[in-house]
Amino acid sequence: MILPIYLYGSNVLRETNQPVQPDYPELKQLVSDMYETMYNADGVGLAAPQVGLSIRLFVVDANPLSDTDPKAHGFKKAFINPEILERSGEITAYKEGCLSIPHINEEVMRESVVKIRYFDEDFNEHIDVFDGVAARIIQHEYDHLEQVLFTDLLSQLKKKLLKKKLNNIKCGKDKPSYKAKVN
Ligand code: NI
Repeated sequence: MILPIYLYGSNVLRETNQPVQPDYPELKQLVSDMYETMYNADGVGLAAPQVGLSIRLFVVDANPLSDTDPKAHGFKKAFINPEILERSGEITAYKEGCLSIPHINEEVMRESVVKIRYFDEDFNEHIDVFDGVAARIIQHEYDHLEQVLFTDLLSQLKKKLLKKKLNNIKCGKDKPSYKAKVN
């Protein structure tokens, strides 16, 4: 089922996200719905608050980027109750977008390697290290669980320049092609 995506200005994007309990009802269905919602919107990552749920869960599928980035190939995963244990490597710039912030793409600086602990859909615990585009998407989605949007990370000047565009999204004047809402 395709879920509506909550846009910039929605309260749910700024609320505290709770850990997912192992007995969370229909967790696998939710994960599947989040993938479907993400694919429908041509995204490569989607976090639970973006579909109106204040829980610590995100899904990633970087395969659409594998034409330009071979490292993206095969990287598809659900991250439940993730915790970034370490960020390292070079700090690089990469043009990011967000399904909650349509029609805006800006360069964001982030570390290039992350070590992360998380649970999969079967509640098996993993500790893995990711780099390249995987580390980039993970940090962006993880930020959603910490109430942070990529536009928060831009310079004061960039934020000023984007203010009007962001307001248009908030007011419902700038709508994406996929099912979306502001709460
Ligand atoms: Ni996002």
